[in-house]
Amino acid sequence: MKRTKIADIFDPALIDTTVTVKGWVRSRRGNKHVQFVALNDGSSIKTLQVVFDMSKFSEEDMRPITTGSSIAVTGTLVASMGKGQTCEVQADTLEVYGTADPEAYPLQKKGHSLEFLREIAHLRPRTNTFSAVLRVRSALAFAIHRFFQERGFFYLNTPLITASDAEGAGAMFQVTTLNLNELPKTEEGKIDYSEDFFGKMTSLTVSGQLEGELGATALGAIYTFGPTFRAENSNTPRHLAEFWMIEPEVAFCDIAENMDLAEDFIKYCITYALETCKDDIEFLAKMYDEELLNRLNEVVNCQFVRLTYTEGVDILLKSGKKFEFPVYWGADLQSEHERYLVEEHFRRPVILTDYPKEIKAFYMKQNDDGKTVRAMDVLFPKIGEIIGGSEREENYDKLMTRIEELGIPMKDMWWYLDTRRFGTVPHSGFGLGFERLVLFVTGMTNIRDVIPFPRTPKNAEF
Ligand code: 4AD
Ligand code: MG
Repeated sequence: MKRTKIADIFDPALIDTTVTVKGWVRSRRGNKHVQFVALNDGSSIKTLQVVFDMSKFSEEDMRPITTGSSIAVTGTLVASMGKGQTCEVQADTLEVYGTADPEAYPLQKKGHSLEFLREIAHLRPRTNTFSAVLRVRSALAFAIHRFFQERGFFYLNTPLITASDAEGAGAMFQVTTLNLNELPKTEEGKIDYSEDFFGKMTSLTVSGQLEGELGATALGAIYTFGPTFRAENSNTPRHLAEFWMIEPEVAFCDIAENMDLAEDFIKYCITYALETCKDDIEFLAKMYDEELLNRLNEVVNCQFVRLTYTEGVDILLKSGKKFEFPVYWGADLQSEHERYLVEEHFRRPVILTDYPKEIKAFYMKQNDDGKTVRAMDVLFPKIGEIIGGSEREENYDKLMTRIEELGIPMKDMWWYLDTRRFGTVPHSGFGLGFERLVLFVTGMTNIRDVIPFPRTPKNAEF
């Protein structure tokens, strides 16, 4: 018989029909007359109650049904009188696929801490919390593609292995097939990368933006959505060494239009999640964060504040608040500063623009003041920076001057500079950290809990 997913079973039209359900047992209880099994198949947060009339089944039949075991049941779906459920299955036949030894199964008991569950990342998707988070994550990924496709953006795949450092931060993971115990050396005693796989030094990408700009100056508007790697040794609840980033890039677009796009984009994704993942979000709100739904609705319904970095720094200086990191014009803002502006001062998301050029990447469009660049960071409650972007410097000479000032090796950049040599146009883009969006929408507080297999310093077990 065709299997019905538990997500689809609470359908009044199915009452009094025969159904087959398959899933993993969450619990079993009962007595020698009747037993109740709570079954979940991952299709939704809901479990289905399966009722075993013990005149039809033996104790022997039931023994393998412990928490974590996998079964198939065929029976009649009936309206339920039990509290909190609309229907249940009265079992006629039972098939056990796999047992789960109660002595050994780590999820035998409920209520494990998130920290403990991180140590069993291979099994944690079977908990309510992680299955909910992963379903929300999947819905958000779909919303992202839908948002851009509806607006005529093309999905561009940029390389993961690269010879350039897009952000100039130098926090890259090297990719090599050289024998690390016996590195070939040049005459000057340096590593001879001409013998490496690509004939040069390569790394995992920190951003697809530079290649994204090649796409935007051909197709008009593109977006990337892929994994990104940063070897920064920051053990914070908001940093991963491997994270997913969405990077739209748009030709003939200035920073104001870029901010509109970012705001519309993020609101669209949150709205989509609220509409399609209601049960999961309500579950997460109940378990972890009572304010979650309010916060999500507020962000969707408010207008983001827009102000310059200079104005932001003024507010922080006048706040009278004691921060761990000092505030002064030219300082890179820390998450405590960002969150003060968002959570305490404005009480809604903030887009900060026109940062000092020294703390931003080489490609950002320079303002006439000679000090600032047309950067835009979107700052969110609980998260801090969720999006970083800018209008790009489209003037060849100005871009070259900046590249030389920063000592970026030109030989790595010739192809990028060709966008400014041939038919250059004003253009802008940004990057959204996917896990930071998932954090915000699920109300989770540690980024390790919103990606199936987190990569962080000293942690690549699963
Ligand atoms: O601000 P970032 O470094 O910007 C860029 O990479 C640009 N190339 C984007 C662009 O203009 N196309 O990173 C963008 C976003 C951040 O705002 C943050 O949300 C996320 O990526 N991010 C991280 N997320 C998780 N772990 C990390 N280590 C992250 N570093 C950045
Ligand atoms: Mg940034």
